[in-house]
Amino acid sequence: MVKVGIIGVGTVGVSVVNILKENADVISARAGRDIVVKSGVVRNLNKDRGLDIILTDNVDDVLNDEEIDIVVELMGGVEEPFLVVKKALQNGKAVVTANKALLAYHRYELQEIAKDKAFEFEASVAGGIPIITALRDGLSANHIESIMGIMNGTCNYMMTKMTNEGVAYDAILKEAQELGYAEADPTFDVGGYDAAHKLLILASIAYGIDAKPEDILIEGIENVTQEDISFAKEFGYAIKLLGIAKKDGNEVELRVHACLIKQDEMIAKIDGVMNGISVVGDKVGETLYYGPGAGGDATASAVVANIIDIARSGKSTPMLGFNRPMEGDALTLKSTEKIESKYYLRVNVSDRAGVLARITKIFEEHNISVETMLQRQADNGSANLLISTHMAVERDIQAMMQELEALDFVHAKPVMIRIV
Ligand code: NAP
Ligand code: HSE
Repeated sequence: MVKVGIIGVGTVGVSVVNILKENADVISARAGRDIVVKSGVVRNLNKDRGLDIILTDNVDDVLNDEEIDIVVELMGGVEEPFLVVKKALQNGKAVVTANKALLAYHRYELQEIAKDKAFEFEASVAGGIPIITALRDGLSANHIESIMGIMNGTCNYMMTKMTNEGVAYDAILKEAQELGYAEADPTFDVGGYDAAHKLLILASIAYGIDAKPEDILIEGIENVTQEDISFAKEFGYAIKLLGIAKKDGNEVELRVHACLIKQDEMIAKIDGVMNGISVVGDKVGETLYYGPGAGGDATASAVVANIIDIARSGKSTPMLGFNRPMEGDALTLKSTEKIESKYYLRVNVSDRAGVLARITKIFEEHNISVETMLQRQADNGSANLLISTHMAVERDIQAMMQELEALDFVHAKPVMIRIV
């Protein structure tokens, strides 16, 4: 028998306990042993969770329990779970976590501490989709050329409802929270940080890149308005929050931001809480992974799969999938300002003579070539200029946006969305 202790019995933790019980027949058949939850740790012992396991509010009750083989960390946060997980490994326990924020900051230290001990984290990226296993094991023969996709269920759920039903941002965020999709602090979702944490985990497995969230381009969906969504629809685009990792020579670019994607692209059709990730390997070509990216049961499905795997073998592959430096340690992170893309800009301006000429001159001065331009009347006699560019460099776009914002006939900070 394998005994499990769960630290954090909230949305995901409750589902883990229930799945281990409800699917015990197939789980024990697949693991070759029975798996039982011995105890769980919570903050509030008075909350009714409808479970029949022992609950405590002291993590040491689990960490120091010699009968517990596997510690499952589902409490969230960064530094507190780091200490918890470290102690669990030092006490000789295998660890399973769904905590991408923890891994975004401490994955290399944890790999060092874990050594041969099993440390699994399938649920940390894209909820129920087995993307870690696919990348670490299934595609391990390949150089990875790119990883691109929808990695945050909350944002995709929100963008879908805003696009299809015109639901207001705040109302739909509240709904995503009630459904158990959002992080304890939902600014991690809407600010793009959660997707960035996931992208960094994938980038370590694919490229051995040791970067922190502060090192990469991260933008969320907070500035996307109904206006941009309807313009996008009108021109045949969907707006999605994407995580993108791309190898370019010896550099890897990592970025998370809202993107305009042609409606007929597969990724543009992924709606609701679903995630979808494309991975291109040099030998296999393009592979696609699709499924629920958040929610108690979907996430717990991946957590339990890790528990079963550990119960089977007691040992895992190296945590990040490599024993020696990847690609001879040759790959480095591309600086954000060198990233290239096409861009959509919305600039609200005074509707008067000479404005358009000034704007196009500024584009020229920053070496940015306009692909299409359209003017729409807006409030108070102003006009919205909707501009798409040819490929341009991030450094030039940012400099141009600053210059545009400072002009007296530009009424608000220009809106910029990258086109994929
Ligand atoms: P949650 O519902 O907020 O549950 C967190 C649990 O941890 C609660 O039971 C809480 O106790 C407990 N807890 C927090 N701090 C604690 C502490 N210091 N000591 C003891 N217990 C503590 O969160 P969740 O949605 O289940 O997410 C858990 C983890 O899974 C997070 O790392 C999250 O990023 C990750 N994840 C979540 C999803 C999802 O869809 N929800 C998907 C993938 C990954 P109380 O209940 O008493 O407050
Ligand atoms: N808050 C996360 C999301 C949970 O919405 O994708 C899954 O990691």
